[in-house]
Amino acid sequence: MSDEAQLPRYPIPRGVHPPLLSPAYESTRLRAPREPLRLLPQELTEITGPLLGEGRVGPLDHDLTRQHEGEPQGQRIIVTGRVLDEGGRAIPDTLVEVWQANAAGRYAHAVDQHAAPLDPNFTGAGRCLTDAEGRYRFVTIRPGAYPWRNHPNAWRPAHIHFSLFGRAFAQRLVTQVYFPDDPLLGRDPMYMSIPDPAARRRLLCHWSLDITEPDWALGYEWDIVLRGPASTPRHPPDRR
Ligand SMILES: [Fe+2]
Repeated sequence: MSDEAQLPRYPIPRGVHPPLLSPAYESTRLRAPREPLRLLPQELTEITGPLLGEGRVGPLDHDLTRQHEGEPQGQRIIVTGRVLDEGGRAIPDTLVEVWQANAAGRYAHAVDQHAAPLDPNFTGAGRCLTDAEGRYRFVTIRPGAYPWRNHPNAWRPAHIHFSLFGRAFAQRLVTQVYFPDDPLLGRDPMYMSIPDPAARRRLLCHWSLDITEPDWALGYEWDIVLRGPASTPRHPPDRR
């Protein structure tokens, strides 16, 4: 195989992914490219990796409530779903990573100076591999909304950032999942930058009694489709 081998190209569905320039989302004005994109040949390692053998992801890496001595503050939740390809086939053994704010809406990150408390028992990052059915599962706390400086009195709806690899490093999807019925969604320039309303709604998880565990945690389900007309929208990879 040549070092200039390329992954197969797939048609990009219309309206699903946000444009690189979404003027209401302020920082895209600075970072959106002004010249047409040029596709670079992919390197062999981008096409053949990652090879994530057993033991790289720890058995508790999926549980964000058990990374410290005590339990974090907030509403304990389970977020789970399947990673699927265009044809609805499961994608097993794929790395799913998450990061999020704590229950008060603050990230454990030096740049975040929001006047909300840090939680010494919550780092806000986790990862897991999908199982044979393509299923991932995280235990965490429901993140809080937080202000940002995009426009006056701007608040981000509660969300969890997700990063997924398909079968190669070059097949990375970075996105965010939101919670249903959040009144902030309609005013969020990131969420609203996804042109197709049906595609936008694919970023909402839904509450499930089947996933909810008695006397323990509320359960939410969210499937992720990596390509095709029903694919899950890409979403800004910002810490925000
Ligand atoms: Fe965020």
